[in-house]
Amino acid sequence: MSSTLTEITDELTSLVAAAEEDIGAVADAKALEAWRIKYLGKKARLTVLSREMGSLDADERPAAGKALNEAKAQVEALFDAKKADLAKPAAAAPAIDTTLPGRRPSAGDIHPITKVYYEVRDFFLRLGFGIWYGPEAEDDFHNFGALNFPEDHPSRDEQDTFYLNDGLLLRTHTSPVQIRAMQAEKPPLRIIVPGRCFRSDAPDATHYPVFHQVEGLYVDRAVSLAELKGTLEAMGVYLFGAGTEMRFRPHFFPFTEPSAEVDFTCPRCGGAVCSVCHDGWVEVLGAGMVDPAVFENVGYDPEEWVGYAFGVGIERLAMIKYGITDIRYFYENDLRFIKQFK
Ligand code: DAH
Repeated sequence: MSSTLTEITDELTSLVAAAEEDIGAVADAKALEAWRIKYLGKKARLTVLSREMGSLDADERPAAGKALNEAKAQVEALFDAKKADLAKPAAAAPAIDTTLPGRRPSAGDIHPITKVYYEVRDFFLRLGFGIWYGPEAEDDFHNFGALNFPEDHPSRDEQDTFYLNDGLLLRTHTSPVQIRAMQAEKPPLRIIVPGRCFRSDAPDATHYPVFHQVEGLYVDRAVSLAELKGTLEAMGVYLFGAGTEMRFRPHFFPFTEPSAEVDFTCPRCGGAVCSVCHDGWVEVLGAGMVDPAVFENVGYDPEEWVGYAFGVGIERLAMIKYGITDIRYFYENDLRFIKQFK
């Protein structure tokens, strides 16, 4: 054999390195046996080399023999370590605990605002109301003018209204859809109008620049304030439960005359005082008899037709119903909040 000592030690070093690298990929007994045959078997390079030792020069033999034994010991140690490793119980491997309960898939649910809207809608559908929708980007005429707002009314102020280009604005209430419905339909008319409204309010516990209303409009030849009261009282009972009482407080809206703000006894505390109502009553909506000037603006004869209208704030309703003290929760989309209204 013509190998020199240096060549042998170099080869042994790379052999050990290769053995070490290969064993990293060994993951079971079968692979380990294949590895053993490759590096320690009868035809393994280590075995062949040790058989060839005899052909070395006598003065190089001891050093070469020592290097060979060391390499062999390293490779055998790799084998022993891997064998012990594979024999270990699978404790380290990711175990499947079949006694654990399953994970519930997280299903979506209806937002509390939508839920409360559905309740209001269902109540009025049962009374024979239809549903109308109108645009969120409105013009001044529908949002204000036709509703009898004077030119200098403060809610036209930029501080309250988001103005868009082209003379449009984001509707500040759902009342403009009263106008659109009356312009499109001949009386009698009995509709509700759900929708988003916008006002440039800074968000706080009771204000948010986006909110929802349901508008109601009932026009016929003989519609009375008593009918309005009866209907709204029935709505209060439907939403808040039997025993709910209602009161009308005189108020002013440009498009109704007379007008009222409508309160119900607080469904949270039943009229005792709580953090939702403060005085036993909760204000839920505005309402009134349609002002004859509004009928004139849409071409209905105010001598022939009378009507009532109302506007309910859905966030307000939901806050009362669920005892929510901050309107901002509705818009944070925190699932921990949303999931409470199953
Ligand atoms: N549009 C009013 C608001 O946003 C609410 C309202 C009051 C609507 C009285 C009506 C009504 O239809 O008759 O504050």
